[in-house]
Amino acid sequence: MCGIVGYIGLNDAKEILLRGLEKLEYRGYDSAGIAVSNAGGVSLFKSKGRIADLRDIVDESTEAQTGIGHTRWATHGVPNVTNAHPHQDASNRFTLVHNGVIENYDKLRREELADVQLVSDTDTEIIVQLIAKFVFGGLTTEEAFAKTLRMLHGSYAIAMLDEEEPDTIFVAKNKSPLLVGLGEEFNVVASDAMAMFQVTDQFVELHDGEMVIVTRENVRIRTLNGETISREPYKAELDATDIEKGTYPHYMLKEIDEQPAVLRKIIQAYQNEDGELHVDRETLDAINGADRIYIIAAGTSYHAGLVGKEYFEKFAGVPTEVHISSEFGYHMPLLSDKPLFVFISQSGETADSRQVLVRIKELGHPSLTVTNVAGSTLSRESDHTVLLHAGPEIAVASTKAYTAQIAVLGILAALASEAKGKTIGFDLIQELGIAANAAQTMVDRKEEMEGLSFDFLELSRNAFFIGRGLDYHVSLEGALKLKEISYIQAEGFAGGELKHGTIALIEEGTPVFALATQEAVSPNIRGNVKEVGARGAKSCIISMEGIQEEGDRIVIPAVHPMLAPLVSVIPLQLISYYAALHRGCDVDKPRNLAKSVTVE
Ligand code: M6R
Repeated sequence: MCGIVGYIGLNDAKEILLRGLEKLEYRGYDSAGIAVSNAGGVSLFKSKGRIADLRDIVDESTEAQTGIGHTRWATHGVPNVTNAHPHQDASNRFTLVHNGVIENYDKLRREELADVQLVSDTDTEIIVQLIAKFVFGGLTTEEAFAKTLRMLHGSYAIAMLDEEEPDTIFVAKNKSPLLVGLGEEFNVVASDAMAMFQVTDQFVELHDGEMVIVTRENVRIRTLNGETISREPYKAELDATDIEKGTYPHYMLKEIDEQPAVLRKIIQAYQNEDGELHVDRETLDAINGADRIYIIAAGTSYHAGLVGKEYFEKFAGVPTEVHISSEFGYHMPLLSDKPLFVFISQSGETADSRQVLVRIKELGHPSLTVTNVAGSTLSRESDHTVLLHAGPEIAVASTKAYTAQIAVLGILAALASEAKGKTIGFDLIQELGIAANAAQTMVDRKEEMEGLSFDFLELSRNAFFIGRGLDYHVSLEGALKLKEISYIQAEGFAGGELKHGTIALIEEGTPVFALATQEAVSPNIRGNVKEVGARGAKSCIISMEGIQEEGDRIVIPAVHPMLAPLVSVIPLQLISYYAALHRGCDVDKPRNLAKSVTVE
């Protein structure tokens, strides 16, 4: 989704901003812009499309050491140059970028800006026009900035330039991520540390309702009421190789490949010196104190949550519900006496999940976030955090975060089981190790998966993924992976559900990927394969060593059946990757999608 960068220092601001925006490209966007300021005023460059298009229109000869930049994912108004950020007030003195959604923008427009001719359809323009109105009415820029922020309802991360104060960037944050980075004779602003990791690893976290006056030498944080806040910087723990593609053609392929290593890292991270599974006492107490777990998540994380439910119920005997975060508010279940809300989110920024967190906090219920990003909004705002240790996931299509989520949920459920004096009946550490090896075997079979992708999907407009039990959850994820990056219409189904309607869509050559890794239900899913086969479908059965049958196209190495999703999803990820590649799709940045979905 939208991204913000800002720089104030002694070097060429244009290049630092453009490179910063390139680092944010993975989040998804449809237009971009930068504004740089020098003694001669502010120069504005905006374009629809990619950062490469923006680079083409930036005037190389403009010299400036201060600037702000933005990638926009359209919410209010179509993606075009006019709606792209930065936005300016009518006098062009103020230039502003904004992430988030201003809920009362229409009211503010009608009540405060009736006589101002707006040029864009965005909620953002209201902010910059209001600030200008208050400055021209006699306030200082800082006062007008604070006054405007106090009037806004909704979420925002903001960076603003004032032509008359070219040595300052005005910054603010509320419910949208924003950081200030510190350097020698420069400071930066970024919605994600990754964007400015090129110049610094020292960042200061901003809290909701704070604004910051950033100059080359100084960073002054204050509340909207003027109280000064002092906060120590922290060192961003990013490994530069984690955020580079290296020799890989796409981040998605790199991240698929990283899954065995991520599983091994998780085994290490959640083991104590005695080789036993371990998480901090408070987190474990929170899980053990619950009489029911409510998992809240979206997309791929929701699919991981479905597997997590099986773990909490089968390993620990804790009743567990899984809810799509955007739907939770409409179907708020009757809660148990001692609920625990578990938020699963790779990014930790998903607005749909956050609104549930805000609501359940108001009701006084405990929360735990399982996320890949330490310090993310969901992590900061929930009572407990368990990290995925998957390393930055850049491709929009989530792969290694999914397997990491499943492994971590398995560990939490096993610990809960142990705390209740139960046993899960197998050695999870050992079996996760076996699953990591099996995952390695699967990522090494790329050529074969590419061939299958070609055979099954080259000419397809649609595809079906079916499974039963745990395999059903994986089929949902397989379908999501394929549709989001290749644009082939794909649906995941419980095998038994097909005959209740969807089988009508099966015709000659329709590809059906059938998961058959669970012995107890394997005969039934094979029955479904026969049913669709009789109607012309072309089926690819994905089974497991030990229960495979002749003709199965993919046989994953034997792993504990409860851990099969960690391995069976890999061929589906690879098949989707190659389908998208062969169709010439932008694998890492599929159309209309964003990595971090920060609007509801
Ligand atoms: O960051 P989150 O895990 O909260 O994101 C949730 C979904 O937006 C995400 O999983 C999405 O479905 C993926 N792009 C799918 O690959």
